[in-house]
Amino acid sequence: MSRLFSGIQPSGEVHLGNLLGALVNWVTLQDEHDAIYCVVDLHALTLPQVADELRRSTIATAQMLLAVGIDPERSTMFVQSQVPQHPQLAWLMECTVSYGELSRMTAFKDKSNRDSTSFISAGLFTYPALQAADILLYDTDVVPVGADQRQHVEITRDIAERFNSRHGDTFVVPAHIIPPAGARIMDLQNPGNKMSKSVDGAGTVNVLDDLAKIAKRFKRAVTDSDGDVRFDVDAKPGVSNLLSILGAVTDRDPEALADEYSQYGPLKGDTADAVIAMLEPIQARYRELEDDPAETMRLLRLGADKAEVIASEVLARARRNVGLID
Ligand code: TRP
Repeated sequence: MSRLFSGIQPSGEVHLGNLLGALVNWVTLQDEHDAIYCVVDLHALTLPQVADELRRSTIATAQMLLAVGIDPERSTMFVQSQVPQHPQLAWLMECTVSYGELSRMTAFKDKSNRDSTSFISAGLFTYPALQAADILLYDTDVVPVGADQRQHVEITRDIAERFNSRHGDTFVVPAHIIPPAGARIMDLQNPGNKMSKSVDGAGTVNVLDDLAKIAKRFKRAVTDSDGDVRFDVDAKPGVSNLLSILGAVTDRDPEALADEYSQYGPLKGDTADAVIAMLEPIQARYRELEDDPAETMRLLRLGADKAEVIASEVLARARRNVGLID
């Protein structure tokens, strides 16, 4: 089985875009891969954090992964900071990537340009080196990530190849895999924009939202005035988004679904019902986990121990090959 690695930033809320775009896929990928999933709390530290909130969101993110169906028996699920090999290998990665390469990363340019007066940590700049360490520590074959993370996987490949050519064969060079299409979920009020946690308005559906509120948000979703149900993202972004969501939740093709509707009202109603049917059991499992934080902590400890067995071997190989003593 090929080894798969992916990471998720700890964050307070997970919305429908995260769920259908990434997490549902993570659950499926467990069947055919030796999957390793990591809550990347060290990456979160690249931006200012409040200690109690970081702790809470790290645990909440792990609980969300469990609630959607990540199986800690079949897969390895852990928190990055509980496996000390990550920051250890990150230093070797920092010494293998150049200042110029890091300067060209669009994620860094975007984040650091957004507000030139704010504090820009060195960690934000070296973020890709830590991400490369995450991936390379597990002899990872494939990394499922969205388009926004593609450059980070590319630089990981470059770092692995450079390290291997400088120091001898050490790392597996990973490939990125693009998650299946159709799961690009847009804002219900501004269907030209991706659903996002930064604009948590009437167009966002969070996985833990009250179900009646979710139904209302779908009812009020922006469509258009021509009254025709067709899948056409450019001409009909709102209607197409509803069809995409319904398609993703019911595992059907959005274009085929369009043929079954002649009016917007029933499409909105069915989409809301399908989303609610999917979220209800996730919410119930999440509440159970929330009531027993010690169980989550136990599972995370087990996951970190499993991860560390692999990570310590790969780190030892890298240390030896660069010339560090035992
Ligand atoms: N940078 C990723 C994001 O913001 C999270 C991440 C960290 C990651 N390490 C990773 C993703 C390793 C894939 C593999 O979404």
